[in-house]
Amino acid sequence: MDVKVFDNDTEAGKYAFELIKQGMDNGAKVLGLATGSTPVTMYQAMVNSDVDFSNMTSINLDEYVGMSPDNDQSYRYFMQSHLFDKKPFKETFVPNGLAKDPEEETKRYNKVIADHPIDIQVLGIGRNGHIGFNEPGSPFDAETRKVPLTQNTIDANARFFENKDDVPRYAYSMGIGSIMKSKKILLLAFGENKADAVQKMIEGPVTNDVPASILQKHPDVVVILDKAAASKLSKK
Ligand code: PGA
Repeated sequence: MDVKVFDNDTEAGKYAFELIKQGMDNGAKVLGLATGSTPVTMYQAMVNSDVDFSNMTSINLDEYVGMSPDNDQSYRYFMQSHLFDKKPFKETFVPNGLAKDPEEETKRYNKVIADHPIDIQVLGIGRNGHIGFNEPGSPFDAETRKVPLTQNTIDANARFFENKDDVPRYAYSMGIGSIMKSKKILLLAFGENKADAVQKMIEGPVTNDVPASILQKHPDVVVILDKAAASKLSKK
């Protein structure tokens, strides 16, 4: 894993975007994208640039089950407001939170991923080491599926909701097997509260208890950190 440490998340986000630009210059057509606080500075860099994304396809990692795309807590809404409304893409895929049949929806999404192999996948990491909504214990070979959120993740995401009871209990998430098929992976993490998960991901054993640790086995991962998130790494 290639680890890069920056003074702050603005610089880190700009660097992540530089890698995406390089990838696009070298023919990348499909971006795997993530939501949450972490990728916001990278999306700002994309929006502030003069780069044209209208030939690009995006595939998002996850969506809350039961959440309408118009709901401002949905990941579809997040992506529209942070990126797609400002920088149009050729096509954008996010799981459909309102799908009637979860099995059909996960099949549909797996076909989307199979039909559009991901060139560059952007990831955040949970305090518990999750990637997407692949919580501790998730199988390393899974495809997209409906998953229950752990209490740790519900607590972490409650900050975005008025009431903790409003946080959805299930999500559709791309599986770790699908994530690992991406040609290149950029994992971003900022802040002291990610330092433990980052340390375990990079320096700990590869274990389902820390889903992100599987990234040690991927041939092309760049980990993009601020100083606080890097603070528990033994090698500086
Ligand atoms: P965050 O979430 O970017 O909001 O910290 C990351 C994650 O849980 O994967």
